[in-house]
Amino acid sequence: MSTDGTTERPPLEATVDLAAIAHNVEVVARRAGAAVMAVVKADGYGHGATQVGRAALAAGATDLGVATVAEALALRADGITAPVVAWLHTPSTDFVPAVEAGVELAVSSTRQLDRVIAAGARAGRTAVLSVKIDTGLARNGVGPQEWPDLRDALAKAVADESIVLRAAMCHLARGDEPEHPLNDVQAARLDECVRELDHLGVPPQVVHISNSAAALARPDLSRDLVRAGIAVYGTSPLPDGCGLIPAMTLSAEVSMVKKVAAGQGVSYGHTWTAPHDTTLALLPAGYADGVPRLLSNQLRVQINGRSYPGVGRVCMDQMVVDLGVDTDVAEGDRAVLFGSGTDGGTTAKEWAATIGTIDYEIVSGIRGRAQRTYVNSSGPGGPQVPA
Ligand SMILES: Cc1ncc(COP(=O)(O)O)c(C=O)c1O
Repeated sequence: MSTDGTTERPPLEATVDLAAIAHNVEVVARRAGAAVMAVVKADGYGHGATQVGRAALAAGATDLGVATVAEALALRADGITAPVVAWLHTPSTDFVPAVEAGVELAVSSTRQLDRVIAAGARAGRTAVLSVKIDTGLARNGVGPQEWPDLRDALAKAVADESIVLRAAMCHLARGDEPEHPLNDVQAARLDECVRELDHLGVPPQVVHISNSAAALARPDLSRDLVRAGIAVYGTSPLPDGCGLIPAMTLSAEVSMVKKVAAGQGVSYGHTWTAPHDTTLALLPAGYADGVPRLLSNQLRVQINGRSYPGVGRVCMDQMVVDLGVDTDVAEGDRAVLFGSGTDGGTTAKEWAATIGTIDYEIVSGIRGRAQRTYVNSSGPGGPQVPA
């Protein structure tokens, strides 16, 4: 609170609408026809893993997914007791605290399985385990050469009661091309591995394949669960927005307004020159905060409901907006850099398209001085689905 009793907003603010998260979880569940694991790795794609995790679970998600054990333990430390699975490990990952905290571990090799069993013995607790099968992505996951050994070792470990086999999972290489035949090939390979586990008397309790794109567009690939990341945060990896609502709004306080004369070059390298006398606004947001420098001269911001171009180079800490000759924008006004798009403003997806990347990279890259805050727009009037 400021001295006059008003609530101060951070100069650079990433506002996350938890009602949008809840709405998006419901959209994914409905379209996939399956339970939802909300993927909250990388601090919830930059939205805050714990806050998003809680909102997603309250909206009906059954599980949370993260990459690393450290991420899973952070959720447990914040009091989240729902099933959490971690699937990316290194030889130095300590599985003991994960087993103690009841974190499900997805293993990709017999070496990892052995270490999880040993961790269970040390923790005095049966490890809950998933097997991550490489059915064609060639990233982590057990490949076809090592699969028979891992399968047999899993069967033995279940028979010994050293582990509980909760899930078999794979990740799609071309999930964002829903009709690509590789998706069906990968699903068939996973189904075959599950059948083999069945024959050995150790069926996994649940099977999951789909990421957001597949969950939204290929319900036939949904098995028991879908692992949805980007859709939970409100963007569709598909051309159709699917009624999802982008949850993050990045806004900045106008730090300075000043007039410049025609011919004035702006920001490093003078890559933009004022074509006429004009007024500039300075925003305290730069590439160290996750505004890509590649967006220099290529972005627009909304201030008081009007759209203005960013001009000149995006710098480390600041960027400049051209307000034009006559403007009522004042220092202290709020500029929206990207948001839900409902008000005609820019979205993270548009930023990504402008510079040839994906919105995953934009939202998970918001950092530096950007302070995260949370709102819940549920109730009359919100949240609004972009047109
Ligand atoms: C194994 C796994 N499952 C699910 C996801 C979620 O993907 P998406 O954000 O496309 O839904 C990811 C993210 O990369 C992942 O690595």
